[in-house]
Amino acid sequence: MRFDTVIRNGTIVTATDTYASDVGIADGTIVAIAKDLPIEGAHQVLDARKTYVMPGGIDVHTHLDMPFGGTTSADDFETGTIAAAHGGTTTLIDFAIQYKGQTLREAFETWMKKAEGKAAIDYGFHCIITDLGDAQLEEMGALVREGVSSYKLFMAYPGVFMLDDGSIFKAMSAAAKYGGLICMHAENGGVIDVLVKRALAEGKKAPKYHALTRPTTAEAEATGRSIALAEMAGAPVYIVHLSCNEALEKVREARDRGLPTYAETCPQYLYLSLENMNAPGFEGAKYVFTPPLREKWHQEKLWQGLAKDNLQAVSTDHCPFCYKEQKELGKDDFTKIPNGGPGIEHRMSLVYSGGVHGGRFSPNRFVQLVATAPAKLFGLYPRKGTVAVGSDADLVLFEPNKEHVISAKTHHMRVDYSMFEGIRVKGVPKVVLSRGRVVVDKGRFTGNAGSGQFVRRQTYVGLK
Ligand code: URP
Ligand code: ZN
Ligand code: ZN
Repeated sequence: MRFDTVIRNGTIVTATDTYASDVGIADGTIVAIAKDLPIEGAHQVLDARKTYVMPGGIDVHTHLDMPFGGTTSADDFETGTIAAAHGGTTTLIDFAIQYKGQTLREAFETWMKKAEGKAAIDYGFHCIITDLGDAQLEEMGALVREGVSSYKLFMAYPGVFMLDDGSIFKAMSAAAKYGGLICMHAENGGVIDVLVKRALAEGKKAPKYHALTRPTTAEAEATGRSIALAEMAGAPVYIVHLSCNEALEKVREARDRGLPTYAETCPQYLYLSLENMNAPGFEGAKYVFTPPLREKWHQEKLWQGLAKDNLQAVSTDHCPFCYKEQKELGKDDFTKIPNGGPGIEHRMSLVYSGGVHGGRFSPNRFVQLVATAPAKLFGLYPRKGTVAVGSDADLVLFEPNKEHVISAKTHHMRVDYSMFEGIRVKGVPKVVLSRGRVVVDKGRFTGNAGSGQFVRRQTYVGLK
C-alpha cells in the first residue's frame, strides 16, 4: 500500500482509546492505522514522537464576517479560519442569518459567498431563523437535505432576533420532522429589556451593567422553557453558550429524565468572571458578550458539567470586535457595545490545560468534548471528529506538555486584544492537517485561503 503521507511513531488519542500507531493518508483520507507502515513513495513523512495524534477540533459556534451591533465581526472567513487552524481546529460551523422578510435560502447563499475562496479549513452552516412563516417551515426540510441540518433560535434580543414561544415550538416540531437540531440562545429577552431600560434611566451606562442586567435566572428560566418546548414538540434541543450553574441544573434535570437535551459551554465561562468587567476605564467592554460573565464560582460547576457529561461540548462563540473603534461604539452606553468576544484560536489549549492538566478529565474526554461529540451531534461523524480508516485526515499532532502564554501580540485573530491575555496554557498543537494537507507547521501557516470546503452535514441522530 502506498500513502501520500505517513504519520509515524505517534500516540493516537480518540474519544475512547489511546494507543501507539502510525497513520497512513491517501487523497486526504485516513486509509491505514497500523504499526510500522511503509513509507516508500510517500510525499511526506511526519514524525509524531512525543505528540498525541488527535482528530482536528470542531468548533460548532463561530460568527465570521457577521454584521451585528452596528458593525461587522472583525474576522472574515480567511483570517478566522487561519486563526482556528493555528489552534488545532479543522472544521467550524458558522451561522447564516435570515433577516426579516428573507427566505432561509437567501441567508444560506449569502454566507456561502462569504466563505467561498476564503476559508482555509472546512466549514458548515447553521441557519439563524428570525422570521418564521409557513414558507420558512417548509424550507427547513429542504435545507436539511442540503446539509444545513441545524437552526439557531433566539429567546433574547427582542425586535432583532427573538422569536416567540409559538414560533419556537413550530420550528422545533419542523426540526423533529426533518431530522434537524435546534440550537437555542436561552435568555429571557423580555425581562432583560426591562432591566436594561431601568439601568439606563438610572444613569448606569458602564460596560459592567451589560452583565448586571442579564441575571443567571433569566438564562435558567429560558433554558428550562426551551427544554419544555422541545419536550412538547418531541424534538432534541442544544443549548448554546451555557454560562451558569442555574442553567446547567436545568440541563442536568432534563438529561436525568432521559430527554435529548444537550448543551455547550465556552472557554470564556470557564476562565473569566464578573471580575473582568471591572477592568480599568472602558476595558470591561472587552468582555461584553451574551450571556455575560458570571461570578467565579460558576466556573468549577461548568468544568464538572463537562467532566460528568451534563455538558457535551465546548465551542467558542467567536464573535470578535476590536476594542478600538468597534467596542468603543458603546463608550457612553453599554447597550451600544457590540456583543461578542474573540476565542476561535485557543479553545483546544484552554480546554486541554484546564481539563486534563487541571485533573478534571482524561485526554479521551477532551477529544470527545472538542471534536467527537460536536461531530456526532451536528452530522459530521464519522467523516470528521475521530481518527479512523475512512475519516478525513483532519488531524492534530498535539504536544501535551508544551506551554504557551496567550497574548494579542502573538495571536492570529484579526482583533486588537485577547480575552485570555497572559493566561499560560499547557498543551498546544504542533502540526495541523486538513484533509491530509499540513496547514500549520510549528506555528507557521502553510495552508491556503480557499482550500476549505463546505461540508454537507447529515441529519441529527443523537450522540451514539
Ligand atoms: O455576544 C455574543 N454571544 N455574540 C454573538 C451572538 C450570539 O448570541 O451568539
Ligand atoms: Zn447566542
Ligand atoms: Zn454566538
